Amino acid sequence: MAAMKGIKGMMMKPHSLIPIRNASRSSASFHNPWDDNSLQASLRNPWDDNPHHDTYNPNNNTLANANEFNKTKRFSLILPRSTESLSGMKKGKNLKKSGVILETGVVLLKNYVSVSDQVKIVNTCQQFGMGRGGFYQPITNNGGKMNLHMMCFGRNWDPKTKYNSKYRSDGSHALPLPHQLISLAETSIKDSQAYDDRMPSMDPDICVVNFYTSTGKLGLHQDRDESESSLKKGLPVVSISIGDSAKFLYGNSREVGKAKVVLLESGDVLIFGGKSRLVYHGVTKIIPNSAPLSLLQQVKLRPGRLNLTLRQY
Ligand code: SIN
Ligand code: MN
Repeated sequence: MAAMKGIKGMMMKPHSLIPIRNASRSSASFHNPWDDNSLQASLRNPWDDNPHHDTYNPNNNTLANANEFNKTKRFSLILPRSTESLSGMKKGKNLKKSGVILETGVVLLKNYVSVSDQVKIVNTCQQFGMGRGGFYQPITNNGGKMNLHMMCFGRNWDPKTKYNSKYRSDGSHALPLPHQLISLAETSIKDSQAYDDRMPSMDPDICVVNFYTSTGKLGLHQDRDESESSLKKGLPVVSISIGDSAKFLYGNSREVGKAKVVLLESGDVLIFGGKSRLVYHGVTKIIPNSAPLSLLQQVKLRPGRLNLTLRQY
């Protein structure tokens, strides 16, 4: 199957991909929220307006005046690449939308986000990612840095403070969640319900944004820091992939050897909820030079993978 390429050293069982039902009908009547004129206004980062914003000191849990934010090294998603570096990239990918249920509560929508919307998402993340509350490398409980860059919309999540701190370690508040991302998550869930009618609906209020460089990884874990009621109802996690493809593992335990593998490509949306809300999942490899050329021709996304997960607290 063209869309499910094998990766060296990885056994991939092809899933039967079913075309997304009513795709043409929904695209005719579908209002694309990324087309709104209000986009620029709604994407302003209000926390950038006050350069003397107080700063949270995680050591004594107080707000201090030292401007930690200015000490944070900025991480840019946009990195100019030479024309030659793009010449080896694959063209002509099969961009047909389709969907598949990987197991009860886990639905993969292939090629769900158009390339032009992927460009808008990258630009939005860049706009916020370079400002206050933008990309940083979170520190885990054992003192190491996570192998990715992160920022959050709606509510801050951090490996140490989970969702419990209003301020991030650099003193920043959570960024406002763009309504276009809320709409995308809601529409994805609706479409996933055609494959799994038990997939619960939700009102997303959090988006964790991760960027993996070519060496980025995320160990097998469960997403279980949302509210007890959200987890109990199995309100889904909606995961959007942009850029290079990832080898994504999922299963019932933390054991990598027992996990199943699926390739997540640019434009794919994976939804896990209901019975599978607490599925273990992680990213073991980013496949170099696998981003679609059509995306890189429109936005100079640095090598690696952007992933957005929307949730309801
Ligand atoms: C996550 O588990 O939070 C991110 C998963 C991914 O990058 O696909
Ligand atoms: Mn997760």
